[in-house]
Amino acid sequence: MRNRLWRGVFYNLHFTIYNPMTRDRWGSKLGVILAVAGSAVGLGNFLRFPGIAAQNGGGAFMIPYFVCFFLLGLPLMWIEWTIGRYGGGFEHSAAPGIFHTMWQKNRFIKYFGVIGIFGPTVIFIYYTYIESWLLGYSFFALTGKYASCTDQAGMTSFLQGYQGLVHNEHFSGTQTAYLFFLITFALNILVVCVGLRGGIERVCKWGLLALVIMAIVIVVRVLTLGIPDAAKPDWNPIAGLGFLWNPQWDKLKDANVWLAAAGQIFFTLSVGFGVILTYASYLTKQDDVTLSGLTAATTNEVAEVILGGSIMIPAAFAFIGPVQMQTIVKQGLFDLGFVTMPLIFEKIVCGQYFAFMWFLLLFLAGLTSSISLAMPAIAFLEDEFNLTRREAAAVFGVVSFILTQPVIFFLGKGVLGEMDFWGTSVCLVVFATIEAVLFGWVFGMDRAWTEMHEGSDIRIPGVYRWIIKYITPLMLITILGMWAWQEWKNKMMMTDVSEADKPFILLTRIGLGGLFLFLLLMVWIVWKRRPETKENAQ
Ligand code: ALA
Repeated sequence: MRNRLWRGVFYNLHFTIYNPMTRDRWGSKLGVILAVAGSAVGLGNFLRFPGIAAQNGGGAFMIPYFVCFFLLGLPLMWIEWTIGRYGGGFEHSAAPGIFHTMWQKNRFIKYFGVIGIFGPTVIFIYYTYIESWLLGYSFFALTGKYASCTDQAGMTSFLQGYQGLVHNEHFSGTQTAYLFFLITFALNILVVCVGLRGGIERVCKWGLLALVIMAIVIVVRVLTLGIPDAAKPDWNPIAGLGFLWNPQWDKLKDANVWLAAAGQIFFTLSVGFGVILTYASYLTKQDDVTLSGLTAATTNEVAEVILGGSIMIPAAFAFIGPVQMQTIVKQGLFDLGFVTMPLIFEKIVCGQYFAFMWFLLLFLAGLTSSISLAMPAIAFLEDEFNLTRREAAAVFGVVSFILTQPVIFFLGKGVLGEMDFWGTSVCLVVFATIEAVLFGWVFGMDRAWTEMHEGSDIRIPGVYRWIIKYITPLMLITILGMWAWQEWKNKMMMTDVSEADKPFILLTRIGLGGLFLFLLLMVWIVWKRRPETKENAQ
């Protein structure tokens, strides 16, 4: 008890002395909530969610999805806001330093924090490239560049030409894609350079507003499509909603549906990345984290299940029917968004403007997420190497720009998919497991609960004490175990990879391994150069 009292006194004193106005800060409470919501609302909400839900049987997916939201997503959201604010009190904004403040006696925990820089950086590398396709497509929708493609095969060929996978009448290489990539990449770096208030907060505020308005317009249009083909009365948007919302209880026994639901919850809420803790580290001790975390998570869920769930699936049901929709989503998660949706818009009045809105809203959703993915690495360079925001953004920009080149030029060799596997399937779950165990067991649940409620605007229901300590870590460890059991051998042996692609996948792994080792080395150098760490020095 006495120890805890002294720790509290020390922490508050420390905050007063060492946390003057020198640290970048959020402009307002709404600003940080929108920034976190902006990080969460992304391609995952409008492209990945409907695709994964359709792949896993629609209504069969939604119950595991909501269970994972309440037992994994929401607790992790609160954990990340809390530990981020705690670590920020010691002037650490990235996971290595934050983990170290939470378990100072352990010399190794900071190295586990490297996953919280590596994961978002890897995702940033390919995410920004996909985001740039959306900018390109919004431009093509307005200029009518793909208007001559009137069927699935034609539109697929257009997409493959744009990606440089084939040469055709539309494109003869990656030049156009590269141009849109350069614009998108520069925009991302510019926004983070400007800083929290003027850059991230502003972009998220206006970006989210614009995308929500556009999404509502498209939802209304899709849901009022009626029955486009009189010969097929059951092909209609409401049947699409029924597919998503009618529960299929018998499918609850399928472990793969649970794994898919958990993966989607991580990806969509941006938990397990390491980005929310970085955003929360710029709060002050008096700022609320409980209501803010809940609000950001709820905003994301509304954008995902209400808006994201009411566009692609109902539109596809009405125009191509359930059977073809299932076939398309099985081919690839993005095919519905990049191939089917533009074809559908071609068939409705003023469709090119709806298509423009569709791609622009996706681009804005991507932008508000990708800037958050850049922040852990940038914050690490700023805090631990004393670089300015601009210097840190420049270093990050150069490194991530170089690493994006293989994604662009060897897209057809599976480089993007390999990065997605390590960034999304591996890092998110491993990082989330570490932070959940650290929070509930090492930091200690009593202390964690008190820390969460410092400056809090609401009290979290007591049952979450129990969920955070037992259920969330247990579910995470189970997911990790199941995933390792199902995937590890196949992945490591590259059984699903063609002989021709194997060298590219191997080189990608070597590159990612090198980046990870380099980050470990940087953490080692930081703590070696400064054995008196920030928290000990005080
Ligand atoms: N949370 C972000 C998304 O859903 C990464 O795309």
